[in-house]
Amino acid sequence: MKTTFSIIKADVGGCPGHSTVSEKLLFVAQKKLEEAKKENMIKDFFVTHCGDDLELIMTHTKGEDSEEIHELAWNVFKDATEVAKENGFYGAGQDLLKDAFSGNIKGMGPGIAEMEFTERKSEPIVVFLMDKTEPGAFNFPVFKIFSDPFNTAGLIIDPNLHSGFVFEVWDIKEHKRVFMRTPEEMYDLLALIGAKSRFVIKRVFPKEGGKLPPDEPVAVISTEKLYQIAGEYVGKDDPVAAIRAQSGLPALGEVLEPFAFPYLVSGWMRGSHNGPIMPVGLCNAKCTRFDGPPRVVSIGFQVKDGIITGYEDLFDDPAFDLSRQKAAEIADYMRRHGPFEPHRLPLEEMEYTTLPKVMEKLKNRFEKM
Ligand code: F6R
Ligand code: MG
Ligand code: MG
Repeated sequence: MKTTFSIIKADVGGCPGHSTVSEKLLFVAQKKLEEAKKENMIKDFFVTHCGDDLELIMTHTKGEDSEEIHELAWNVFKDATEVAKENGFYGAGQDLLKDAFSGNIKGMGPGIAEMEFTERKSEPIVVFLMDKTEPGAFNFPVFKIFSDPFNTAGLIIDPNLHSGFVFEVWDIKEHKRVFMRTPEEMYDLLALIGAKSRFVIKRVFPKEGGKLPPDEPVAVISTEKLYQIAGEYVGKDDPVAAIRAQSGLPALGEVLEPFAFPYLVSGWMRGSHNGPIMPVGLCNAKCTRFDGPPRVVSIGFQVKDGIITGYEDLFDDPAFDLSRQKAAEIADYMRRHGPFEPHRLPLEEMEYTTLPKVMEKLKNRFEKM
């Protein structure tokens, strides 16, 4: 029996503002999922938040895109929205774009990252949850984890990793996807995913002939909102990812390593600024300075027969102190640019803009030159 690992998340109300999620909402989710576990709908679960996003992590045997699991998550978000409304939390229900559930949560607002796989003897899974950024923010670390030998030593010295991986890349604008192989197509892959607001890594697969089945993903990233409303820019998604580790895959430490460098992502204040991604422990998963800086938390799980047998808050560790310090310095440096690019995003990527109104006001004052 295969195991399905599902992360389904939504912003159903922040407290205060867009900074974090109230304990009251976490409690609602915890209760609902406890019931679902008792009724054997799910095998196990973990509820948490990153910034203002409520995160439901669930294990079950119902496969990806299960109507039952998606409806369960939808109902959790609905109930949490009610509590958010009663308490006047900010933006109550903001990610629930539809009124009624209709079979699949995709395109209804929440973000989803799911993978179904055959459990190995021991199955370590690393979850990453980001706030105040977009799915393309995972391109840099996921590339490094599965393709950069300066990050992942195993690509060079472990015979099980040496042949490389297959990346599923989505073109958000054209609504198409392509499968690309590394190391042989590494330069072509980078030509695409360097444009992170258009091309996003959706999944990673092992190659044929190795220890792992080539048709079962080893990494998955949430991209659903962007996927459903292709052709137009729909803003930042606050993405999540799940990555399987060890034994023929990058080691836990190789999976975490890219986050030692606080690379630049887009999002931050009003979804319209570039800033560093700051790796933090769950106790610091709140967005404060200039509604940020964008945060990432990581929780490592061991899963056995679909049960979560242990977990750890992985960035809650002095080994990442320097990265946080660096992120704070970069945040300071970027902020000094105020309304200027490249701190502020290029026009077509901004979530908020007054430019059409400014242009309208000035239209009769522009002179031909
Ligand atoms: C960014 C984000 C926040 C808000 C900002 C303004 O993703 O959620 O930075 O954009 O706090 O929010 P409103 O317009 O709701 O006052
Ligand atoms: Mg919000
Ligand atoms: Mg958010």
